[in-house]
Formats: sequence, C-alpha cells, structure tokens
Amino acid sequence: MIGRDLLGIEDLEREDIERILETAMHMREVGERDVKKVPTLRGRTVVNLFFEASTRTRASFEIAGKRLSADVVNFSPAGSSLKKDESILDTARTLDAMDPDVVVVRHGVAGVPKRIADVLAAPVINAGDGAHEHPTQALLDLLTVQQEKGRIDGLTVTIVGDIVHSRVARSNIYGFRKMGAEVRIAAPPPMIPANIEVLGVKAYTSLRESLNGADVVMALRIQNERLAGSWFPGVREYSATFGLDRAKLRHARDGAIVMHPGPVNRGVELSHDLTDHRPSVILDQVRNGVAIRMAVLYLFAGRRGGDGPMPLPDVR
Ligand code: NCD
Repeated sequence: MIGRDLLGIEDLEREDIERILETAMHMREVGERDVKKVPTLRGRTVVNLFFEASTRTRASFEIAGKRLSADVVNFSPAGSSLKKDESILDTARTLDAMDPDVVVVRHGVAGVPKRIADVLAAPVINAGDGAHEHPTQALLDLLTVQQEKGRIDGLTVTIVGDIVHSRVARSNIYGFRKMGAEVRIAAPPPMIPANIEVLGVKAYTSLRESLNGADVVMALRIQNERLAGSWFPGVREYSATFGLDRAKLRHARDGAIVMHPGPVNRGVELSHDLTDHRPSVILDQVRNGVAIRMAVLYLFAGRRGGDGPMPLPDVR
C-alpha cells in the first residue's frame, strides 16, 4: 500500500481492511509497553493538515506518528498563509516541496483531500472530508467490534442519528458491509439520505425496530455545524425518540455494545450513564484509534516508488 492514498473505505477491498486491522493489532502491543516507541518510521515526515476542528483524530495521528518515530508537523489554518488568502492547493504544493512522506488532511468540504492528493507526490490520508468519508474512524470502529465480538461477519450493526451529515456513517456503512455485517440505519426521516438503500443498508424510522437483533449500536453526533438550513425535530424530541439509554437498549440483542465516535452531546444521543459505562466502548474506540493510525501510517507512508518502512521490531 506504500504510496497509495487512503481517501475512503469505498476504495478498499476486504483484504486491504483485514491487513490494516491485523497490523493495528500489532501496533496495539506497542501502545501497551512502557516505552511506546519503535524506530519504524525514523527519518520520515508526517504532515497533519487540519482545516477543520478536531481533538481525537488530530491528536491520535500525532501520537501514532511519534510512536513510530516519525517527525510530525501539525499545520492548522490559523497562523498560516491561508490567512493571507493563499489557496489550499498552493499551501499543499508548498508543504509538498518540503518532501513529507505522508500528508493527513481534514477539511469541511467533501472532495478536498482528493484534490490535494492530485497535486502531491506524497500519499494523502483522509482524516474526514465534509459529509463524505472518514476512513480511519471506520477502521477503528471495525477494530473495536472485532475485539469485542471476535468477528464482524454475520453481525447486525445499527447506526442511529444524523446519517445525512455523517462521514462516519458513510465510511462505516462501506466498512461493515465489506466485512460481511448487516447494517441498519435509524433516524428521523430528514436525517436519512435519499437512496441510502443503494449502499446495501435498511433504513428505519422506528428505533425500536432497528434495534431488534442488533449486536452493535452506534450513535452519531447531531452535526450542529452542518444543520444550517435543514429541518431538525428539536433536541428534546430527538433525545426522547432516538437518544439511547438503558431502557431503549433492551430492544437490542443481549450483550450488544454501544459505540459513539465522539464528541458526544451528553443526554442527546446517549444518556450520561451510557456515555460513561459499559456496554459503551467509547474510550476503547479512542485507544484503538491510535493503533489504527499507526497501522495506516506504517502501511501507506512513503513517497510513491520509494523504499518501504523498516520492519516492525519484534512485533511478529
Ligand atoms: C467525528 C468527525 O469529526 O467526523 N469525530 C471524530 O472524528 N471522532 C464525528 C463528529 O464530529 O461527530
């Protein structure tokens, strides 16, 4: 995969996903050591280019790069020449001339990582673009389910909430479908994208029906920043009908786990209790995020046609 872009789960084959998950399981061991560092990407440069707010994703790409001994440069629009109206593509070209080995891009507009990838020699990892895709989020969610349930194939996954604005939903639909799970979505009608069935999912407007037999329930954040101009039932009504709490969770299969990509609007998508306690696995998702980003940097970083990374020391 060296030198390839990771723009979306849509572009991956099942074998690619399996390879990333397997590599991430080895990376998780590195994170459990006292000294959480291996020399694998020594001398390589990772550029984080985040045009949109982020806590988890940016920090975990940074930690992932550092655990692999790469040099990590964080770039954010405030304080850059973007304030002087330099275009995004010119900024990208400028950074590319500094010869990074991989560039991680987040942007509020769908398709920007692809545009940047088209002008860069270094591979681009999409860290979330508009309502399009967020591939490393789906990969860490797959890893978390694999860890919790021992498999993904044959499970039923219900994704609840603001599907229409969610890049997390889109990437997870591709990912869980490719790995053999049944995927359902549940939301008020305005939050269900038109023609979503073409992605191989079933849409429900009744949360209760959508939960019947579910092994995994994934709640999504109401994307307040993307709601402008669209209809929303109101927070109180939303949380009464689609907000998850222990009582509603009883409709899912026994032992079902609850996931959320964060940040959680507490008391809206999830009750406080479910946000903080099992069966929710929110902090495991965060922990796995570091391992997945280590795996992705390891597998994709490197200029096209260049040498691969050093082998992972005593990790397999
Ligand atoms: C998500 C995002 O930014 O797409 N957060 C994340 O990366 N963990 C989801 C969200 O913002 O709701």
